[in-house]
Amino acid sequence: MTSRIDWVRANCRLLLAIAEEFAATQPFRDLTIGTGIHLEPKTVALLLTLKAGGARVVSTGNLNSTQPEAVEYLRAQDIDVVGDRTTDEREHDEYLREVLSRRPHLLLDNGGDLFARYLDDRYEQLLGGTEETTSGRVRLSKLRAQLGRPILVINDSPIKQFAENRHAVGQSVLESFLRITNRATNGRNVLVFGYGSVGRGIAASFRNAFASVAVVEPDPVLRLEASFDGFQVPDRAEGLRHADVVITATGAAGVITEADLDVLRDRVVLINAGHFPAEIAVDRIMADGRVSGRRDGPEGITTVELTDGRQIHLLTGGHMVNLGGPRPLGNSIESMDLGFALQARCLEAVARGRTSPEDVVVPVPAWINALVAEAFLKLYRG
Ligand SMILES: NC(=O)c1ccc[n+]([C@@H]2O[C@H](COP(=O)([O-])OP(=O)(O)OC[C@H]3O[C@@H](n4cnc5c(N)ncnc54)[C@H](O)[C@@H]3O)[C@@H](O)[C@H]2O)c1
Repeated sequence: MTSRIDWVRANCRLLLAIAEEFAATQPFRDLTIGTGIHLEPKTVALLLTLKAGGARVVSTGNLNSTQPEAVEYLRAQDIDVVGDRTTDEREHDEYLREVLSRRPHLLLDNGGDLFARYLDDRYEQLLGGTEETTSGRVRLSKLRAQLGRPILVINDSPIKQFAENRHAVGQSVLESFLRITNRATNGRNVLVFGYGSVGRGIAASFRNAFASVAVVEPDPVLRLEASFDGFQVPDRAEGLRHADVVITATGAAGVITEADLDVLRDRVVLINAGHFPAEIAVDRIMADGRVSGRRDGPEGITTVELTDGRQIHLLTGGHMVNLGGPRPLGNSIESMDLGFALQARCLEAVARGRTSPEDVVVPVPAWINALVAEAFLKLYRG
């Protein structure tokens, strides 16, 4: 029987083609690559592609999203995986520091966790690397002067923006809502916080599933765009008062807090799609005097009871919904194949010295975007 990891690997056609090329060209010969990225089937395909290029790979996951089958599969392929699934920030910190203790030449980071910690204990042989997310770019761009090495930000590639953040996250957040709650979207009032690429895709996917979607976005230009796209743009209190489902996709902390408890509708479903679990301030909400109880119900759903009898349903504890709950699938294989092909090509460019030392926290170079786009069109649509 083939496993889901085998299915994913077999369908990551760009990565398979790159792995075949890397096996011949060996861009990472004698190099160690340290990674701190969600450990799930698609990252397995990426890490094995890097290994095919001659790298020693030492990996750990992100908070809460590590899938044990992925860890087992990687270990069986001689990839050094540090730690296991954890929601404990201290434990996670230890795992990240252990990856750095192997002194990797390249870092593949997700959220800036590795590069930020590298600054606590620097070493010369670090060539640079990649950062996957918006949240990581924001964090690391403040540290440019100290980092002083090429770091290419995958998220800032137009390919990542439309293929993964917009189209794929929109689909997978909808899929996660349906999978975890088994509730209908039809006619429900869905309120999306943030109208960046991720929020745009979520809003469109829920509208395509016959929900009535509104958007809260502080940037007036993006708010106007949401309005032109046909979404309601109420002020946040008004939006929250009517919302059956609230989804955060901002990259910011404390988007929904205990201050919103009075306006939330009975049985509202709260979902976070942003990278860090802090978008919904779960601890602050739980500590509020208006909370009378908490039931950790069927997988992925926590019901918070308020003293006035209202209930709030929180999905996946406020962690990124599309990588939590029962049988999380994450984003579509095609979108991740594209994003991870960008990762593999960017790491190759840093390893081969095809970047300049000034490329510290900069977008993927245009030539890499073009290379990956051409390859995808040829393989998938040719
Ligand atoms: N779930 C996933 O699979 C997945 C995939 C990619 C990115 N992400 C994460 O999703 C988040 C958003 O990514 P993006 O690329 O759309 O970012 P972005 O920066 O392009 O957009 C975020 C938007 O949120 C708005 N915003 C900020 N604070 C807000 C608030 N308090 N209320 C309402 N809106 C607010 C900003 O003005 C901005 O327009 C990030 O944390 C990113 O890491 C998740």
